[in-house]
Amino acid sequence: MNTNPQHILVTGGAGFIGSHLVEQLLLRGDRVTVVDDLSTGALANLEHAKRLFADRLEFVHATVSAASQSSKFPRFAEIYHLAAAVGVRLIVERASQSIETNVLETSAAIQWAVRDQAKLLVASSSEVYGKGVRIPFSESDDVVFGPTTSSRWSYGYSKALDEFLTFAAIKESNLKAVIIRFFNTVGPRQKGDWGMVLPRFIQAALAGKPLEVHGDGKQQRCFCDVRDIAPALVKLLAADGCFGRVFNIGSDQMISMQALAQNVLRVTHSSSQIMNVPYEKIFGKGFEDLQMRQPSLEQIRRAIDFSPRIALDTTIADIAAQLSVACKGERAA
Ligand SMILES: NC(=O)c1ccc[n+]([C@@H]2O[C@H](COP(=O)([O-])OP(=O)(O)OC[C@H]3O[C@@H](n4cnc5c(N)ncnc54)[C@H](O)[C@@H]3O)[C@@H](O)[C@H]2O)c1
Repeated sequence: MNTNPQHILVTGGAGFIGSHLVEQLLLRGDRVTVVDDLSTGALANLEHAKRLFADRLEFVHATVSAASQSSKFPRFAEIYHLAAAVGVRLIVERASQSIETNVLETSAAIQWAVRDQAKLLVASSSEVYGKGVRIPFSESDDVVFGPTTSSRWSYGYSKALDEFLTFAAIKESNLKAVIIRFFNTVGPRQKGDWGMVLPRFIQAALAGKPLEVHGDGKQQRCFCDVRDIAPALVKLLAADGCFGRVFNIGSDQMISMQALAQNVLRVTHSSSQIMNVPYEKIFGKGFEDLQMRQPSLEQIRRAIDFSPRIALDTTIADIAAQLSVACKGERAA
């Protein structure tokens, strides 16, 4: 039993990762306020938490910057800042809005944490490694981005600025903060709407439609289940030795997109076809993708003994089960 329940703020808590994190915090016995503008999140993501812990969960429909101006909130002990514009397609299609969200809303979250003297966790991304200079990506690696004429890199640049802003506040205001670079995180509640590959493949497989693999499908990524990630976020903010540091989080098991599509067909028993589609057709001319993206997990292993446990096939099966239930619900409505 938690003898010292705290009041915690989760920005973007109605999103995919945020909603799983909210459940972990409620399970720890804390009171949780979610601030989310529902731009890509959904109230349905919080239904499970609400059913179990309604008395300790508050939802506020607002942007972080607007909510941060309000005096109605208590002082928060911890702030997990996950709100962001997420997904390569969203970034490419709505570039200015995405850059502003990722930089200005993070600045607001940092100021909020400084004002409340709250511990802060900032969600960054593997995109901060840009083109990546070596495999696996280590937190202290140099970074090389593509040109500013390609809006695809703006997400990585904006998350890098978030990291700089956080480090500036650590130095100037004694902020206790941890920066987390998420690699591909997957699991129930993730949507394929803005190009996230795994839910997009599973949706297609369940609907008997072709699984669209971008390019030749040889590009490799590492996928980690959100149910391994969420408890680790809570541990990172609870461990004193983590403040002022950057951590990769994810799995280090690489898989090609072609193999991922085949796994999805096998696990869902689907007879859909795999269709290779040129990048140009999806993202326009000049889109650059990385051939390999793999985190070094040395730092996070040492800090909190992090090690992902859920197998990719289990994640695929669970996402498929959740999407099937959601589909039946929509048809019945
Ligand atoms: N899922 C991944 O694989 C991955 C990879 C790298 C980084 N990340 C980072 O992790 C965090 C969570 O991502 P996710 O996958 O859960 O995405 P998500 O889109 O499900 O969650 C983002 C949430 O933020 C909310 N939001 C957006 N702008 C807001 C604003 N101005 N004010 C308040 N709420 C706002 C959205 O409505 C949504 O609920 C993000 O910061 C993202 O950049 C995720």
